[in-house]
Amino acid sequence: MKKLSIAMLSMVLAGSMLLSACGGNTQQTTDETTDDAAQTEQTTDGGTLVMGTNAAFPPYEFVDENNKVAGIDAEIAGAIAEKLGMTLEIKDMAFDSLIPALSGGTVDIVLAGMTVTPDREQNVDFTDSYATGIQVVIVPEDSDIAPVEQEDGTMAVDLTGKTIGVQSGTTGDIYCTGDYGQENVKQYDNGALAVAALVNGQIDCVVIDNEPAKNFVAANSGLKILDTEYITEDYAAAIAKGNTELYDQVNTAIQELKDDGTIASIIEKYIPSEG
Ligand code: ARG
Repeated sequence: MKKLSIAMLSMVLAGSMLLSACGGNTQQTTDETTDDAAQTEQTTDGGTLVMGTNAAFPPYEFVDENNKVAGIDAEIAGAIAEKLGMTLEIKDMAFDSLIPALSGGTVDIVLAGMTVTPDREQNVDFTDSYATGIQVVIVPEDSDIAPVEQEDGTMAVDLTGKTIGVQSGTTGDIYCTGDYGQENVKQYDNGALAVAALVNGQIDCVVIDNEPAKNFVAANSGLKILDTEYITEDYAAAIAKGNTELYDQVNTAIQELKDDGTIASIIEKYIPSEG
């Protein structure tokens, strides 16, 4: 029997810190994703820092009511650009176009709730991690898919025979394709499209990162997140290999923004902790 042991994948992927329980719902809708939209966030004279993202991943990135990319990653990138004395420009594209865009020089940096994985590390350099996530399963409230207690006491879910929706090229995609076969996995350009297909009954579940999952469940009635335990993935900014000057500047900026509490307060703004 195949089980969705994302924990195993995640152990290979990155860190091993368990996610501290984060409560609260940030309700943002993502139905107006503008592909390849560019925007200028601030103006200085140190050049332009072009960031690539896939803005259907709230609260990390989403298109706001002014048709601008907003969210945790946009704000962190804004703070990085400010430290570097640069103008931030954001390009919104499909998630699986992000690493090619870095390698091709279309963007300088990617912040996209991107998980550090050994495979991606072959192609890009990741900064220190600035946030964490876990893969979860969204199902309709009346779904027969349910977690089962394992011998070690953890809860895991078997998605054999189900049609699984994922965001193309994400860790959820890589994991589900590996475990359940390409023929059972439907890849969407972004999480919002995957969730829309779930709402329309075209697929049985969506595997996606926990904070976007909470947003999508809050924004759509009749969905729930299965109660399973997985290991944390580390999110980091990615920079093209060889761009060491920018890498060093950005990594220093991220460390300073972690040390002075800026990153924690940006995350708290979008993911309020309980209590
Ligand atoms: N953390 C997952 C990964 O790196 C999903 C990220 C999706 N991000 C996005 N902006 N759509 O594969």
